[in-house]
Amino acid sequence: MTNPPTRRTVLATGAASALLMGCSEYGDENSGGDTEEASSVAPSGTASGGGAPGGKELTKTADVPVGGGKIFKEEKVVVTQPEKGGFKAFSAVCTHQGCVVADVSDGTINCKCHSSRFRVADGSVAGGPAPKPLPAKQITVTGDSISLA
Ligand code: FES
Repeated sequence: MTNPPTRRTVLATGAASALLMGCSEYGDENSGGDTEEASSVAPSGTASGGGAPGGKELTKTADVPVGGGKIFKEEKVVVTQPEKGGFKAFSAVCTHQGCVVADVSDGTINCKCHSSRFRVADGSVAGGPAPKPLPAKQITVTGDSISLA
């Protein structure tokens, strides 16, 4: 009796094939940069989770508190909802010395490095040493989904 192939088996086989193909390309054609360009093309649609068209989904509207916000450290974006149903996004990189902001509370986006605070409504400086507002970021709200534009 043979077991059906597991996901791990399939992935391992696929990786081995890709390696073999890569080696043969380099071995057969010593043409410089052409092979690198060809191998960097990613299949389309693999990163999409079925969300809104355009950018990567960040979160659901219900996960951003009214009067507050949510920080996405990996994307370096903070999404706020100053008023119910009105969403904004800003860079999460503090304009003082570049720390990623730490939290959102009491209507401000807060950097813990040197205590700068930015208003959730427009990213303007509410306190601390930051010299400039947080720059706005483009987002798209589609239904209950918020994506980077
Ligand atoms: Fe944010 Fe200094 S880096 S307050």
